[in-house]
Amino acid sequence: MNAHEKTWLGHPRGLATLFMTEMWERFSYYGMRALLLLYMTGSVLQPGLGFREKRASLIYALYVGTVYLMGVPGGYVADRWLGHRRAVFVGGVFIAAGHFSMAFSSMTTFYLGLCLIILGTGLLKPNVSTIVGTLYTKDDTRRDAGFSLFYMGINLGAFIGPIICTPLGQQINWHIGFACAGVGMVLGLIQYVFGQKYLVPVSEAKPSKIEPLAPEPIAPKTPFTREDWGRIAAASILTLFALIFWAGFEQAGSSLTLFADRATRLTFFGRTFASGLFQSVEPFFVIVFSPVFAWLWLKLGSRNPSSPAKFTFGLFFLTLSFLLILPAAKYYQTHQVRVSPFWLIGLYFLQCMGELCLSPVGLSMITKLSPPRIVGFMMGVWFLATAGGNYLAGWVAGFLENRTYSEVFTIAFATAAAATLIAALMIPVIRRWMGGVR
Ligand code: PHE
Repeated sequence: MNAHEKTWLGHPRGLATLFMTEMWERFSYYGMRALLLLYMTGSVLQPGLGFREKRASLIYALYVGTVYLMGVPGGYVADRWLGHRRAVFVGGVFIAAGHFSMAFSSMTTFYLGLCLIILGTGLLKPNVSTIVGTLYTKDDTRRDAGFSLFYMGINLGAFIGPIICTPLGQQINWHIGFACAGVGMVLGLIQYVFGQKYLVPVSEAKPSKIEPLAPEPIAPKTPFTREDWGRIAAASILTLFALIFWAGFEQAGSSLTLFADRATRLTFFGRTFASGLFQSVEPFFVIVFSPVFAWLWLKLGSRNPSSPAKFTFGLFFLTLSFLLILPAAKYYQTHQVRVSPFWLIGLYFLQCMGELCLSPVGLSMITKLSPPRIVGFMMGVWFLATAGGNYLAGWVAGFLENRTYSEVFTIAFATAAAATLIAALMIPVIRRWMGGVR
């Protein structure tokens, strides 16, 4: 039977396999990440390795930075050698092995675990998205909706991961939390192996049912025109803004997690909850609000804001989020009293609005603006910006060793505000460079 005959929510059945694979991979990634910095510095609920903030933040920054940096060679290795489907499988095995390695309490297995997860994620993360693209013909109208569903899978994993792993890790034993992340990845791998038969690219499907795609013509190596250079410049500037956005946004796992652990009220009806749970809040908002945004962009039709305008909104929401948390941080400092969890919930709501303006838009912006023969390279650069932003977000938390939360959040606020202003001023210039592309 043709793998393309079966459907899932109106999409090729293979999407369900990839949705679940990425859901479990993100479950393990975010479940472990929610514990990582607290494990190194120690949490209010349980002592950890006893690292100082500077050292812990540096290791954290190197980890979250290289995890995404590895996406660049990971994509390349799959293209040239392993193939995308095999790369996802091998990546998943590495990731699971990494989490299980961290389930042992020794420094060697801790660092080994981090390295395995870095290698595995580099192989899995970019390629699982590439396979989603192969399930649709170029002109299939379900394509964008397919990617939106896939984005929901990412966030479902990011939502459940901390909910399950942090109470186990913070309230019972760190290593049980890490092992739990590994179990999630194994479940993802099992269903991947069983569902792999559905991952036949449309281009390989039986011609009787589906028109095969003609082999993609290799774009001729003509020199770039002035217009091409303009678009490359526009995409590069927007990618730079994205880097600043991620540097603020990804503090969810670093400085904001420390703020949750040490400065936020963690009791609810007399019971104490794990501070890592706060990391589930933003993905929850993403699940709820992505359909709203998808509807909004469609509804706006020709009045839909341009990509640089959406990037500006993204940075603006990020600025607001740090502005919101500032009084809470100041209050904590003056009174040394833990603040209400609603401050962080409000911050994550605003950051979710920002993410939905910038992250999905960014991917499509890259594919629209890059001259075809360098689109893969530009996608690599986009991942590089994510890596750089993640690195900075981790590095910032190191300042908490001898500076206050409000000082760190003021720096984040000021950087985001300056970036918003510059982005807003540059909208007309970037639009001109984009040469008619929105
Ligand atoms: N929440 C997104 C995810 O986990 C963040 C991200 C965006 C990561 C882009 C990598 C690249 O997929």
